[in-house]
Amino acid sequence: MITVNNESVEVLIEDKKFDLPFLWLRDNCQCDECRITETQEKQFLLHTVPIDISPDKVDMDGDMLLIKWPDGHDSIIPTSKILECGASRYPDYKFWSKKFTPNRFSWKDFLDDVSTSIEALKDLVSYGVIILKEAPKELNSLEMLSKRLGPIHETLFERIHNVSITGHVYNVAHTSKGLPPHNDFASYKSQPSIQALHMLENECEGGESIIVDGWRLLEDLRYDRPDFFKTLQDFDVPFREFDEENETFAEAPIIKCSNDGSIESFRYSNQLMQMINPTKHGVKDFYMAYHELTTRIHNPKYRSTFRLNGGEVLIVASHRVLHAREPFTPNGKRHLQDAYFVYDNVANNLVLLSN
Ligand SMILES: [Fe+2]
Ligand SMILES: [Zn+2]
Repeated sequence: MITVNNESVEVLIEDKKFDLPFLWLRDNCQCDECRITETQEKQFLLHTVPIDISPDKVDMDGDMLLIKWPDGHDSIIPTSKILECGASRYPDYKFWSKKFTPNRFSWKDFLDDVSTSIEALKDLVSYGVIILKEAPKELNSLEMLSKRLGPIHETLFERIHNVSITGHVYNVAHTSKGLPPHNDFASYKSQPSIQALHMLENECEGGESIIVDGWRLLEDLRYDRPDFFKTLQDFDVPFREFDEENETFAEAPIIKCSNDGSIESFRYSNQLMQMINPTKHGVKDFYMAYHELTTRIHNPKYRSTFRLNGGEVLIVASHRVLHAREPFTPNGKRHLQDAYFVYDNVANNLVLLSN
């Protein structure tokens, strides 16, 4: 069924109704003249047709939509392409169950076996976290994860960060104190979106790993206190991480949403947060919302606690999942290395592997 209206064409494709604007139809012509056939890229330039372009004729031939334009151009669009537009590209997000602990996958299989990689990457996209077990205990093994996670996202300090109490101390992580939930480098506008924490040795008593489902917590906050949620979206907070040779700083809101309202990122680090200019508009409202947020961050309801053993790698989608650590007794060796990757590369590698 095809109906040509004043500014659009209505078509029924597999019982789904589509209202396709004329300019959309012209812009998406799939003919060999409008596309670069070798690369599948678009070649047609929209400004080369008038803004009020209107088809002379619209037909359906099998599963091809055919459009004749006044300038003589014949457009062809397979209906399957139109249907594909609505399909979701990535697995849906899933919230954690009550007794959630991340699934563990073998390091070797993750790197060498495609079906394990797909399963693990699906888990990482859906739950925001996985653990790799039986990983090498050699320094800088995280470099090898690039095969699945894409290139390392470098930041200042170190390409692969060392976390131990005997190394360079510029952050609370390098002490044996408990580490409250946070994500790393809130002090960058482009905050790392995947973090891999590789435990090389863990012989100390205590120091259990904690992860928090930040998005679940924020969705509950949005439901219970939409006013607080909005304040945390609108108010810029300063964060800084530095030492004698490195300086990072960013001012950004704690919550960032996509245009469709879904949460895109949760920026949170008590230790890196800087003094907010007290004369700034909205400080009092911010602190009311922030107090409620921090109360929820420390609510056990949203967390999962487990021990990360030597030879295990915790990987988190760090715009969603916060990580933390219980205090430990420095009575043995404990050495962790961490590195960052880019979430987009991870999610799209899943698409590539699944093809
Ligand atoms: Fe951290
Ligand atoms: Zn064309």
